[in-house]
Amino acid sequence: MYISTSILSVEEANSTKIFYNLEEAKTDYFHIDVMDGKFVENDTNNKMLNYCNIIKQISNLPLDIHLMVNDVKQFVEEYIKFEPDIITFHYESCSSDEEVMKLINFVKENNVKVGLSIKPNTPVEKIYKFLPYIYLVLVMTVEPGKGGQSLIPSTLETAKKLREHIDSEKLDTYIEADGGINLDTINDIKNAGIDIAVSGNGIIKSEDYKETIKKLKI
Ligand code: DX5
Ligand code: ZN
Repeated sequence: MYISTSILSVEEANSTKIFYNLEEAKTDYFHIDVMDGKFVENDTNNKMLNYCNIIKQISNLPLDIHLMVNDVKQFVEEYIKFEPDIITFHYESCSSDEEVMKLINFVKENNVKVGLSIKPNTPVEKIYKFLPYIYLVLVMTVEPGKGGQSLIPSTLETAKKLREHIDSEKLDTYIEADGGINLDTINDIKNAGIDIAVSGNGIIKSEDYKETIKKLKI
């Protein structure tokens, strides 16, 4: 299990120190939650641009960028300068399958791995046709928009269904899950066949990042 730490809930004041500590605690990725105030209510763009700048100065760890935005192309262009490892956008941001495919290709043309995310109520079958062209599917285990929510149990069934489909089709697409993941829910996440778990408050609000990340990885 890989761990991608969401830095959405990190406060500005101690942010540099916290990023150092997360790297020392062996997070596998920094998960960057970009919100545009349109696709979701919150607008985190300036905060995330600032955090990406800080992280790039102090760390070589990969950035896992999660775009919760309507205008995907504009934000891909804005974050590409940080040379992220993965950029994930939402299926629900697109008005047609052609648009989804265009955006997949656009991210890949910039030499970045691409992820496609689905909200809790989107039927997972809708994204099956894109699986051969993407690096990962990000299954939202809460409604996108804010940190600190409780995991929605039905999303685990979505992840299991996707796992079975990927395995039966012999695809190598990874599955990432995001929202409400902590030491209480990590076992359910593992049982659902997730490869990468995003955790925000579960790590940031814990006493000892190293211990928490170690336990989440087991
Ligand atoms: C929700 C974000 C998540 C979330 C994770 O819109 O995509 O990354 O902030 O935070 P926790 O782990 O606190 O739910
Ligand atoms: Zn996220």
